[in-house]
Amino acid sequence: MRKAGPLLPSPILVAPMAGGVSTPALVTAVARGGGLGFLAAGYKPVAAIQSEISEVRANGLAFGVNLFVPGPPTIDTVALQAYRTSLGAMAARLGVALPEPTYDDDAWGAKIDFLLAEPVPFVSLTFGLPDREIIRALKERGTVVIATVTRHSELLSAQDYGVDAAVLQHSAAGGHSAAFAPDAPPGAPFTDVAALTSELFPHSTIPLIAAGGLTGASDINEALAAGAAAVQLGTLLVRTHESGAPQLHKDALASPTFQGTALTRAFSGRPARGLENQFMRDHRDAPAGYPELHHVTSPLRAAAATAGDPDAMALWAGTGYRAAPSMPAAELVSQLVAGLDR
Ligand SMILES: Cc1cc2nc3c(=O)[nH]c(=O)nc-3n(C[C@H](O)[C@H](O)[C@H](O)COP(=O)(O)O)c2cc1C
Repeated sequence: MRKAGPLLPSPILVAPMAGGVSTPALVTAVARGGGLGFLAAGYKPVAAIQSEISEVRANGLAFGVNLFVPGPPTIDTVALQAYRTSLGAMAARLGVALPEPTYDDDAWGAKIDFLLAEPVPFVSLTFGLPDREIIRALKERGTVVIATVTRHSELLSAQDYGVDAAVLQHSAAGGHSAAFAPDAPPGAPFTDVAALTSELFPHSTIPLIAAGGLTGASDINEALAAGAAAVQLGTLLVRTHESGAPQLHKDALASPTFQGTALTRAFSGRPARGLENQFMRDHRDAPAGYPELHHVTSPLRAAAATAGDPDAMALWAGTGYRAAPSMPAAELVSQLVAGLDR
């Protein structure tokens, strides 16, 4: 079987998926199937991620934890307020109050303190790079540190900051773009992540993990042949039995009602790819404003989920969403491992 090198236990990584998708059961099932799974610490209180880590650690299998690196508060507060006002009628209809657009750092310091006190095998970072000292301290404790990058300049910065590996995310990916600048346009228009990998591989001094739009063994082999040491899959696992995605999200991925994906800032103020629904169509001009707008729309999304209305939920999905099967995650991962070129 193809090896991912000494750094990674498998060439198949399963993405951290915030919002409840990445359960301890999913991460454990992925490891049992021969892959490496990640818990998603983004948006999650420290106590909740601590308890998820304990649950996964008890199984004695390798795993990782993903953190959102906080950026600065959004400067254009007028645009944030205008967007909040534009959602007022919908909020009234759903019977929810919209919070003020407030900034927070997602309890970054407390999460880092915990990961330094009780190190985990892998930490991946999304939305930028933290202080070099934090990367060094994590590495000193034996944690493999992985940055997420979307373009050449970000890869060079990640390498300069001393991370061990980089997830190279193509814009076909489901969920948020990991671009360092919150309002960055999608990376250069490479057709797929294999093409992006071929382009950046000659500039890489660390292993690259290709992510975005991968639908199965043939895509995976292509990305590995282009120079990736491993791949990271997200959407393909969203419908698995152990995924904690709401049933409405799982069903939408297989439903003919949704005809494609698009990038949107409407839900969080940061570009993210999801199944195109009415909320996205109604708010194509949503401003940049992460994390403030994530908090503003949070009660709307929750109320829509409770009401069974997928048209106002964030249905994160990569372009390959039609390939996502409903099956046990360990079985899916072991099939993908078996399909790797030797
Ligand atoms: C539902 C969902 C949630 C996600 N949440 C996160 C996250 O918390 N952290 C992160 O680094 N990436 C997150 N991503 C992006 C993945 O890391 C990865 O880049 C993407 O899933 C790869 O593309 P694919 O979905 O086409 O396989 C998420 C993706 C999805 C589909």
